[in-house]
Amino acid sequence: MKLNLKIWRQKNSKTKGKLVDYQINNISEDMSFLEMLDVLNSKLIKNNDSPVVFDHDCREGICGSCSLFINGRAHGPDKSITTCQLHMRKFNDGDTIYIEPFRASAFPVIKDLVVDRSAFDRIQHAGGYISVNTSGNTQDANAIPINKNDADTSFDAATCIGCGACVASCKNSSAMLFVGAKVSQFALLPQGKVESGKRVLNMVNQMDSEGFGSCTNTGACEAECPKGISLDNIARMNREFVKASF
Ligand code: SF4
Ligand code: FES
Repeated sequence: MKLNLKIWRQKNSKTKGKLVDYQINNISEDMSFLEMLDVLNSKLIKNNDSPVVFDHDCREGICGSCSLFINGRAHGPDKSITTCQLHMRKFNDGDTIYIEPFRASAFPVIKDLVVDRSAFDRIQHAGGYISVNTSGNTQDANAIPINKNDADTSFDAATCIGCGACVASCKNSSAMLFVGAKVSQFALLPQGKVESGKRVLNMVNQMDSEGFGSCTNTGACEAECPKGISLDNIARMNREFVKASF
């Protein structure tokens, strides 16, 4: 395939960025999207040009670092996958592809396509730890009876990889789907109930102080989330928050 790429280039958060045109040939439909960018970068390096900076780590849909906005959609045109799981067979010969960073004021651009998502880390830190008896009489987790639905729902919430697609897809740059998932994964389990009130209050306060917007229930976050995190988690977080506030 021959492709026209329009890639966001930006030196750092203080400078203005712009879309730059690149032409690339001989792209196999079996390549992943990130491999296509690797090919482009090899070419740029060979020509003594600076390579396009983008985030990636596991390249198998686990770490959540490969966050790109592709043709106006977080993680590209395919549903329920991350950018690293996207394949070039989803595009056609001669296509023009727009590649931009996730945009939100709480995610400032570090360089090119890499944004600073440490706000998510600070929200999780604000949530703190769960109480676990480590005195030598630690109870085997499997010995604690847990309702099957609660275990499954908690596990579903725990599949959030912190990629930030929910924020990037939301017109308000709201982080409520992410925070809802992180609150829910603990709130549903007996081990997480001990500090549940303090946890939700601290996480929501931190989310607000990081400058994320409010939720207006448009559902773009759920539609674009690569892990299918449900809006139910936002409703659960709101219930937990109201309960804890009283
Ligand atoms: S809720 Fe979904 S879109 Fe948001 S950070 Fe988690 S995995 Fe990514
Ligand atoms: S590189 Fe880890 S999820 Fe894509």
